[in-house]
Amino acid sequence: MEKFSIYSDKTTGINPFIPVSLKPTIPTLFFHSIIIIVKLLIFIPTLILFVPILNTFSSGAKIITDVVLAYFFNVSETELIVEGIKKSDETNKLKKSPHCKDVILVNATGPLDWFIWKLVSENSKKVKVGIATSSGIVVMNHWFQWVNWCFNGSYELTPSVNDSNLINIVDIDASSSDIDASKDLQKLVGDNSTLYVIVEGTITNGKGLLSYPKGFDVGAFCKMVKNADYGLKVMSVKVSPIGVTETVIPTSKLYWLFCNFGSLNMNVKYRLKLSDMSDIGNDMISDTIIREKLANNGRFKLLGRDMDVTKKGEYLEAVRDNYEKKRK
Ligand SMILES: *[C@@H]1O[C@H](CO)[C@@H](O)[C@H](O)[C@H]1NC(C)=O
Ligand SMILES: *[C@@H]1O[C@H](CO)[C@@H](O)[C@H](O)[C@H]1NC(C)=O
Ligand SMILES: *[C@@H]1O[C@H](CO)[C@@H](O)[C@H](O)[C@H]1NC(C)=O
Ligand SMILES: *[C@@H]1O[C@H](CO)[C@@H](O)[C@H](O)[C@H]1NC(C)=O
Ligand SMILES: *[C@@H]1O[C@H](CO)[C@@H](O)[C@H](O)[C@H]1NC(C)=O
Repeated sequence: MEKFSIYSDKTTGINPFIPVSLKPTIPTLFFHSIIIIVKLLIFIPTLILFVPILNTFSSGAKIITDVVLAYFFNVSETELIVEGIKKSDETNKLKKSPHCKDVILVNATGPLDWFIWKLVSENSKKVKVGIATSSGIVVMNHWFQWVNWCFNGSYELTPSVNDSNLINIVDIDASSSDIDASKDLQKLVGDNSTLYVIVEGTITNGKGLLSYPKGFDVGAFCKMVKNADYGLKVMSVKVSPIGVTETVIPTSKLYWLFCNFGSLNMNVKYRLKLSDMSDIGNDMISDTIIREKLANNGRFKLLGRDMDVTKKGEYLEAVRDNYEKKRK
């Protein structure tokens, strides 16, 4: 791995792009195969029987997500913590949890995140994900776009960046008043959706927080969101055990499913820490404040300015080249 050290952060030495290596033993592989067959045999008929019934209730989607996550992926716990509110204060926690017309800045870990976000959102059917890029925020409406992006190394974007799925960032302080900054938000988020924005622009191994993509002005975006009367929240996402559900570099879907489906004692836990920024004045919102919140008030390492999604692209290319050289 030493030849990839140029992709590490200068001050901390952290390389946020190296996936945790999982090398299952032959007995584990065998065990997984059997578990998968048994799970499918029990689950598919149940699903066929109950999905139409559950779908008729509005909370049906949430229940289905819950059951599938627990059964197939053994996500045994999703803990939502809201900054400033006691764990036991369910009423106020619910008030502050992700609502319709909220924009939530997050760091992401892998394909399951979308379903976890569905679980904690008011309208679980209208969850959307946006990826921060240098040209703005690219919005994904369907979970399969998200899942494909995750498995493809969370780097290249398809559909490509174009006007129909892009939130342009307008600096409301600087621009002339004839630009309607809320137009794209209204069109792509509307009144009934919750938008989760991956501000790092990619997925990492969770060892440190990347800098924003170059040209992505998070401060300007936050002001724009608040001015358009959308809720603004920051959520740091942590999953344990680290590595199993994560997709840092391009990952085979089959292999991932095999590792995750086949688990009986994986016991995946999600910890979501939410900070409400809606009541903070525009003059207090800055890139640094958002990064600090994302880093759980400084408990998580902030990486240097050159550590961003562009660096990840270079890393992915180097890994690919190395792999091709080995094959020759
Ligand atoms: C996956 O990533 C590769 C390289 O980064 C890119 O060439 C390809 O178009 C991507 N495929 C999809 C479906 O996004
Ligand atoms: C722009 O994105 C939309 C929806 O994502 C897609 O249908 C359309 O083909 C894209 N257009 C171009 C020119 O890429
Ligand atoms: C949003 O929700 C409101 C009230 O629940 C409903 O009247 C409206 O039609 C919805 N809008 C869209 C675009 O779904
Ligand atoms: C996201 O941020 C939290 C700290 O706020 C950190 O513990 C976690 O590892 C991060 N996850 C990823 C995938 O970067
Ligand atoms: C999930 O993991 C826990 C802890 O190892 C285990 O007790 C439980 O049975 C597992 N649940 C499922 C549905 O596999």
